[in-house]
Amino acid sequence: MAEDLKIISSTDKKDQYESLLPQIEALISGEDDLIANLANIAAALKEQFNWFWVGFYLVKENELVLGPFQGPVACTRIQKGRGVCGTSWATSEVVIVPDVELFPGHIACSSASRSEIVLPVYHGEEIIGVLDVDSEYLSHFDDTDEFYLKKIVNFIHA
Ligand code: SME
Repeated sequence: MAEDLKIISSTDKKDQYESLLPQIEALISGEDDLIANLANIAAALKEQFNWFWVGFYLVKENELVLGPFQGPVACTRIQKGRGVCGTSWATSEVVIVPDVELFPGHIACSSASRSEIVLPVYHGEEIIGVLDVDSEYLSHFDDTDEFYLKKIVNFIHA
């Protein structure tokens, strides 16, 4: 059973991730269900960071379909290579977008979103989805987010 998450008030994002990481690992370690684990990861990240939108898109029959998330309603389907999420999937790369208006083909699910980071989620060699985090602030994500969010997506087992 899940315990309450310990949220820290530090504004240092490294401290925030260091506090959250073992808690997320513990939260999903005893559970095999992918959707349940993705839902709790999205909730834990939202609680600690209060980002505008955080959640998953899952690969289904050659497109990305909206999965567990926290935040406003979002686009449900994204084609491979389209937008930031589809680009991350197609290239197998982490994509950091400091200003979404400057990213060709960015899919605006909300006009309030200004910057974004998207990471592929793997099961073995195969990409099973992406983690997408959106901020209402410009240039909100950097190498620190990439470093820790990679660790978090590596906890996920399909
Ligand atoms: N902006 C994303 C679409 C997903 S929403 O932001 C939740 C993109 O360009 O792929």
